[in-house]
Amino acid sequence: MNFSVKLGDNDISKQKVSCIILPIFSDSKLNGPLLKLDKASNGIISNHLNKSHLSSEEGKTFMLSDIDGINADSLLFVGCGKKDNFSPTVLQKALSAAVQVITDTNIRNASSYLSFYLEKSLSSYYASRFSVEAVFSKLYKFDELKSKKSLICKFTKLYIGLPKSSNSKEAKKGIKDGIAISNGMNLAKDLGNRPPNICTPSHLSKEAKKIEKKYKNTKVKILSKIEMKKLGMGAFLSVTQGAAEPPKFIIIEYSGARQSERPIVLCGKGITFDTGGISLKPPGSMDEMKFDMCGAASVMGAMTAVGELQLPINLVALIPACENMPGSSATRPGDIIKTMSGKTVEILNTDAEGRLILCDAITYGLRYKPKSLIDVATLTGACLMALGKYYSGLFSNDKNLAKNLLDAGERSYDFAWQLPVHDVHKKALKSNFADFANIGGREAGASVAAAYLQQFAEDISWAHLDIAGSAWLSNDNKGSTGRPVQLLVDFLLNS
Ligand code: BES
Ligand code: MN
Ligand code: ZN
Repeated sequence: MNFSVKLGDNDISKQKVSCIILPIFSDSKLNGPLLKLDKASNGIISNHLNKSHLSSEEGKTFMLSDIDGINADSLLFVGCGKKDNFSPTVLQKALSAAVQVITDTNIRNASSYLSFYLEKSLSSYYASRFSVEAVFSKLYKFDELKSKKSLICKFTKLYIGLPKSSNSKEAKKGIKDGIAISNGMNLAKDLGNRPPNICTPSHLSKEAKKIEKKYKNTKVKILSKIEMKKLGMGAFLSVTQGAAEPPKFIIIEYSGARQSERPIVLCGKGITFDTGGISLKPPGSMDEMKFDMCGAASVMGAMTAVGELQLPINLVALIPACENMPGSSATRPGDIIKTMSGKTVEILNTDAEGRLILCDAITYGLRYKPKSLIDVATLTGACLMALGKYYSGLFSNDKNLAKNLLDAGERSYDFAWQLPVHDVHKKALKSNFADFANIGGREAGASVAAAYLQQFAEDISWAHLDIAGSAWLSNDNKGSTGRPVQLLVDFLLNS
């Protein structure tokens, strides 16, 4: 897919493209590109508006072809609701509906004037970046395991029409970043969607090696079980011990800045299947626990985008990857293990395994003396219950870092909401037999999990993103969302 920016709308009726995409609003007079095209066509648009052929209902489409006075083969109108409510969310929905029509009708190239109408509320950069992201997201297919593949997409070129006053350099940067972010999201989606018999820890290692091969300044190290034992990663090892599938500790280092610059460390939960272990989960929708490696996938997606953009930062991705299985060698509730930090933990519930693999990854991360450490994990059902699927949960010991992450979420429309993590949550982890337990009571489950992790970050600037809700969709739209790659990359672009 190829994108370019087109500034201004003066010659719009002379444009030789297959299709021009235009918004229909319920509460606004024809202006801008719509007005120019209406005039050039002797009022064909106002004519159809008067006959109520053009709906402003969000996502409704209507196509007109072979219009006198207009060089483009067709005009594709998409309902965008009220002009006052036009937002990046509506833009993405509308562009997605347009792309559906375009691919259904085998159109090869188009220009979109949807984000043209966001001039007041959206920068040139985000106007083009969101357009790119919307197209990629609509064109994403996961059919590698279907015997019948979907047809090759003929749609290969989109011009993004923006007002003449737009900053073309910024708009071009939006395209470049949008492509990198989308490539990162597509990797995250693929890894998430692959079944757990294929997407194993070894598979994640191979995908990490591909990143090393593809992007300059990246280096990958994979630690095996023996090396983990030497490092004393007792918490991580206790999770994998019921599984036949070998665990991997994946390290991806990207150096885009001077060596003296402290890196940002991202830790991603890589449970390639979570049965719950001996504390077995109920069978309903257990298949969705293949998505329990979406933290790892998003961290790898962010690394991909950073490698593609060659950002001037140092970044490390740490991915503890294993399965959580029951079996005769699995951890028992009541077992006490020693973490890499030296702290001992009584495992009261083997289904609270994410924090066990992450705490050793965080301890390992301390050796980089990171500027900040952010872990990303499908950690708690409690977070899903509290926030639903629209917001990721954010927890942090550093106000500044929390604000930067929340802001990155707002800018990129990949939202996070901050939840508390406090001493009271740590108290819930009290154990009579070890330094603490791996679970608390029924209350504030997401905060208690965060409090568990926070202790291992010691005094460094730390944040935790609980993506139990945001990482994938269920039911008819079941599949990985690729989130929070947009948030992470936006944060990294600004750090
Ligand atoms: N991977 C799950 C969390 C999860 C559950 C994410 C459902 C998305 C949907 C995690 O390993 C887990 O099982 N957490 C337990 C923790 C509990 C035992 C304290 C949970 O949330 O029930
Ligand atoms: Mn679990
Ligand atoms: Zn889990």
